[in-house]
Amino acid sequence: MTEYAAISVDPMTPRIGAVIGGVDLAAPMGNQQFQEIHDALMRHEVIFFHDQTMTLDQHKAFGAKFGELDVHPGSPGPEGHPEILVIHADANSKHVAGEAWHSDVSCLPEPPMGSILHLHTLPSCGGDTLFASAGAAYDALSAPMKAFLAPLTAIHSGEQVYRGRYKHQGVEDAGKQYPKAEHPIVRTHPVTGRKSLFVNQTFTTRIPQLTRKESDALLKYLTDHITLPQFQARFRWRENSVAFWDNRAVQHHAMWDYFPEVRSGFRVTIKGDKPF
Ligand code: SIN
Repeated sequence: MTEYAAISVDPMTPRIGAVIGGVDLAAPMGNQQFQEIHDALMRHEVIFFHDQTMTLDQHKAFGAKFGELDVHPGSPGPEGHPEILVIHADANSKHVAGEAWHSDVSCLPEPPMGSILHLHTLPSCGGDTLFASAGAAYDALSAPMKAFLAPLTAIHSGEQVYRGRYKHQGVEDAGKQYPKAEHPIVRTHPVTGRKSLFVNQTFTTRIPQLTRKESDALLKYLTDHITLPQFQARFRWRENSVAFWDNRAVQHHAMWDYFPEVRSGFRVTIKGDKPF
């Protein structure tokens, strides 16, 4: 049982998710508080903070404590802030970011370690984010299935996700190549050592060691399995809540059930390393 002195930690479920208190993310942070936030993220895989007001610079500074910030391969950031991903939906939206289960930008050769989302505008009801523990999903598989998956890899592609997606933001992507990468299906967390399933409905297209039919069937089984309710926590946002998730440990799904209302905020994404 981890003891915390500089923050409070209120678990949402035994497997995944905790609400953190006693922190102002915009203020200078001491080493102990930083370490405890890091420990809580490793233990609970996604952590949440309420009542946080942050400028874009303060948001980036908090993210940068955990590693170098990434720039999204498709969506441009606001003027002067390329590391900020704008998350926005309104009555004109045709899509919202993350409306199917995924681990952020898993098509990168070195997918992000984590993402920190700050929402300032919320619909009157709805717009929750669902998170699923990919480690809990792996643990629940049978030993023969774990042995079968151990040597397999999967292709993750950005093409079918990002092509033409940011036209409304003035992005012309003809001739642009979106990232594509091959990762192990079962990855090992570089900090906790925990194994988890690393395939998702959004980016994962193929298991190259199997026939197309075998690959489609196994990916469907695994991506459905990861999203079973027993591996999930569901976060109900308030204005100025922050969610910080570990992309190496969880997948998430943004629930777009509030059309035509507005939901808006900013995300920073922290670089990660090559899955093994
Ligand atoms: C995302 O970063 O995938 C979007 C999550 C959300 O809007 O809740």
